[in-house]
Amino acid sequence: MIVAIDGPSAAGKGTLSRRLAATLGYHHLDTGLLYRAVGARLLATGADPADAEAAAAAARKLGPADIAREGLREEDVGRAASVVAANPAVRAALVEFQRRFAAQPPGAVLDGRDIGTVICPGAEVKLYVVASAEVRARRRHDELRGRGEPATYAAVFRDLQERDARDQARGTAPAKPAEDAIVLDTTDLTADEVFAQAIGIVRSRSS
Ligand code: C5P
Repeated sequence: MIVAIDGPSAAGKGTLSRRLAATLGYHHLDTGLLYRAVGARLLATGADPADAEAAAAAARKLGPADIAREGLREEDVGRAASVVAANPAVRAALVEFQRRFAAQPPGAVLDGRDIGTVICPGAEVKLYVVASAEVRARRRHDELRGRGEPATYAAVFRDLQERDARDQARGTAPAKPAEDAIVLDTTDLTADEVFAQAIGIVRSRSS
């Protein structure tokens, strides 16, 4: 059983995916970490994330240890990730790893932007998690402040808008719901309410 959870940044995918995987006893992969790890490698070597060849080479060298490194959640890494993610050669280099991960028994939850459309089009459950831009920016802002990172709400809002635009406009695997995805709007829901809806959908598909 594969559960694909896609949607824009800070819509609640991560929290939901981790909880679903823990409840179901499934493996979980936050696929954003793959693009973040590629972005982080480039930043660490002083390369430009927009350098297509350097980014593709970094993606081909990526191993499981790279996605466990510290610092991948930082804002500059997220920005670099959204630049390298528009590079078709980077995306191509990361497909096999994600598909192998998804095939592990007894099941897997993968969250990202293109899991239901490109990586696992045959997933038994596809959710597309959304929330208003204001609520997403507020959540991300609170998260950053909670980690002690200085951030203004206005800067976080602008950054999310830029990243969404880049993710949706790219030619390869643009962020969008699969035709058979169920859209879950979390704007006015608590994390518990989102989880209750999602687990209900998963259980209805697995029985
Ligand atoms: O989800 P997260 O913010 O960690 O993802 C970082 C960036 O990686 C996103 O802005 C997006 O550009 C890219 N990404 C992607 N496809 C995925 C997961 C993430 O393009 N499946």
